[in-house]
Amino acid sequence: MAVIEADRLTKTFTSVRKEPGLVGSLRGLFSRQRTEVHAVREVSFTIDQGELVGFLGPNGAGKTTVLKMLSGILYPTSGRACLLGYVPWERRPEMQKQFSLVMGQKNQLWWDLPAAESFLMLKELYEVEDRRFRARVAQLTELLEVRHLLHTQVRKLSLGERMKMELVAALLHSPRVTFMDEPTIGLDVVAQKRIREFIKEYNRTEKTTIVLTSHYMDDIQELCDRVIIIDHGRVLFDDQLQVLLERYGSTRLLKLTFNAPVPREVLERAGRVQEANGVSATLEVPRREVARVAGELLTHLPIADVIIADVEADDVIREVFAGKVLVPEEGQA
Ligand SMILES: Nc1ncnc2c1ncn2[C@@H]1O[C@H](COP(=O)(O)OP(=O)(O)OP(=O)(O)O)[C@@H](O)[C@H]1O
Ligand SMILES: [Mg+2]
Repeated sequence: MAVIEADRLTKTFTSVRKEPGLVGSLRGLFSRQRTEVHAVREVSFTIDQGELVGFLGPNGAGKTTVLKMLSGILYPTSGRACLLGYVPWERRPEMQKQFSLVMGQKNQLWWDLPAAESFLMLKELYEVEDRRFRARVAQLTELLEVRHLLHTQVRKLSLGERMKMELVAALLHSPRVTFMDEPTIGLDVVAQKRIREFIKEYNRTEKTTIVLTSHYMDDIQELCDRVIIIDHGRVLFDDQLQVLLERYGSTRLLKLTFNAPVPREVLERAGRVQEANGVSATLEVPRREVARVAGELLTHLPIADVIIADVEADDVIREVFAGKVLVPEEGQA
């Protein structure tokens, strides 16, 4: 059953550029320079109950903006969305009680209070029953190993401890859908691993739906079966992580340099030609055939140099983060 639907969601930010100084202010009265940022363009997808989906893409791709629209924090410029049957930006209390948004870059707990007191306020807000609340706090803080810190002022906690408390706060009311925007950002590898394990276990045992963004490859590889790749506000890929890796990882690249010109047709017999200009070429060859093809090319062609390049999981994801645009999916171009 679909719990999240985005249908051609679009967000364009318009800002008015002002020239600096007094002259700029005066001039600003007369001529305003408008600039538009197309943060999200016609993004569509459907997410089912219980899925753990990774949102990938380089800085500025539009991930946070999509999550904010789905959470009802931002109105879209156009398009529709549905979260648990509600229109997110109508912010119905019934919807608020069933979902949660955690942002690694932003604090939601009261800085000057111990986490325990913030949790009590959230308990009232979400109307969590006493027994359930106590059990929930105990369960989550034990899993995350922060129970002993419940009565420490949040400002005195380390970054990792604070993030763990943020997670407890976000999950106190047992939301059916949780958006996690970079929940492991800036944490050391141990804390990252702990939080990753927690999210995995939580999704497995509670069968809740989680949409997660992260720039850490380990998070994506260990947590997400499905990934949605966004770049320049558009969806470039939406499928199982495995499909991404197979599509981009099951081949090798043969980078060839020739001593004398070699026609493209000759190369096409050996593999898929990515580029060829007579003196050099890049061939895409299935992993299993790399040795054979390279051998044949070396025997029959005037080859000066050959480099075999991997297309591996890390590379694939790294390329995604580096903003190297994948081929848009059909119908998305
Ligand atoms: N309030 C705003 N006003 C104007 N532009 C904005 C605003 N919020 C975001 N943008 C722009 O929209 C684009 C998408 O931003 P967004 O924060 O959604 O990216 P992101 O994929 O979350 O990136 P990151 O990985 O760095 O968190 C960026 O170009 C950003 O500068
Ligand atoms: Mg972001």
